[in-house]
Amino acid sequence: MNLIAKRIRGMQDLLPEKSKNWETLEKIMKEEAEIYGFKLIRTPVLEQTELFERSVGGESDIVEKEMYTFKDKGDRSVTLRPEGTAGILRAVLENGLNNGPMPLKLMYVSSCYRYEKPQSGRYREFFQFGLEVFGAPSSVSDAELICLAQSILDRLTIKNLSLEINSIGCKECRKKYSEAMINYFKDNKESLCETCQKRLEKNPMRILDCKEKKCIKISKDAPVILNYLCDECEDHFNKVKSYLDVMNIKYTVNPKIVRGLDYYSKTVFEFICELDGEKITICGGGRYDGLSKIIGGPDLPAIGFGMGIERILTVMERQEIEFQKPEATQIFIANADEKSKKKAFELCEIMRKSSIIAECNICERNLKSQMKYANKINVQFVLIIGEEEIQTKKANLKDMASGKEIKISLGEDFIKDFLNTQFNFD
Ligand code: HAM
Repeated sequence: MNLIAKRIRGMQDLLPEKSKNWETLEKIMKEEAEIYGFKLIRTPVLEQTELFERSVGGESDIVEKEMYTFKDKGDRSVTLRPEGTAGILRAVLENGLNNGPMPLKLMYVSSCYRYEKPQSGRYREFFQFGLEVFGAPSSVSDAELICLAQSILDRLTIKNLSLEINSIGCKECRKKYSEAMINYFKDNKESLCETCQKRLEKNPMRILDCKEKKCIKISKDAPVILNYLCDECEDHFNKVKSYLDVMNIKYTVNPKIVRGLDYYSKTVFEFICELDGEKITICGGGRYDGLSKIIGGPDLPAIGFGMGIERILTVMERQEIEFQKPEATQIFIANADEKSKKKAFELCEIMRKSSIIAECNICERNLKSQMKYANKINVQFVLIIGEEEIQTKKANLKDMASGKEIKISLGEDFIKDFLNTQFNFD
């Protein structure tokens, strides 16, 4: 086949079977979040570029290398959202939702776009299930959100899961920490990768996020942010841990979790799933109390997380966690000749109105090909309509598994008869 266009690299087609799993997953996530008081929000996929530059951070990999940014026809720079948080906060402020009762709890399922090197679990278009809580500065809010993430993952029965938490403090803590980092790396700055050399000047904490072997080696004994927390940030983090303890949520404190986006403060966390030695981050989030002011809003404490839908589906598939099977077509109504096509179509519509998944011959197939098709799509029942059936208002309903046939009425009792007959087949 010589298609004139192909799927764009790093983007995926979601075929019907997987789409059903996706829908089930989304439903479970939303149901759990609703129990915790979250309401759905949708925001545009395109935002003004500046929003991400200012929030995700000019020096982050996302903004520096990965954004899909282009000029629209009005010569304005716009960007396909690389993540959900910034757009949600913009929408909250622009629509004055921050003036309503607090806390405000919002959930969303958003496509995100990052021009990363495509590999397993890393796509250029991916979807996040995200939750954001606004106006709740208390550490209970951090714990509540983590509990919710845990209960979603528990409900999905995902195994080999670990929760890693850290606090990256506030601006003041990070100022002192940056000095300590600069001091630590001053003698081996040249041995760091080029990007980390830049990070050392602008955001030294980010060096801990580097995947280059040489940087990992040099950072091994680097200062730990937890030792630079101010009293307030330390108290906040201790309280988060104590709430998690009360809820019996298992976690590890990992001071190397710094997250790849600049807006975080205080608590950050990740849920990581280990699969055959590979570590897959399926959920990441944290507090971002300062972001509202950065993008021109009032003081608005906030915390949230994003779960990668594709990653969760991959983990579930690899852990052989069964999803509900897609609904199979229940009945195929075949027409024996051209004249009966109308009646078959009419009966099919009657069935659909009663929520029975029904199909009829919408191709120009003869009876033999229709039966072949019905076999291929694995229908439970076939009903053949011909002249005689139309005249007698009765037709044989065939149970495809057993081959057994039972006569049912095509008149007023059509649906009633079908449902009763199904029962008899059982
Ligand atoms: P993030 O860690 O960049 O955080 O992304 C959240 C999740 O999205 C990741 O844990 C991962 O499961 C998934 N993900 C990220 N990049 C990709 C990719 N290229 N392909 C497939 N899945 C991916 C955020 O985006 C924050 N907005 C989360 C947040 C919400 N923080 C506070 N509120």
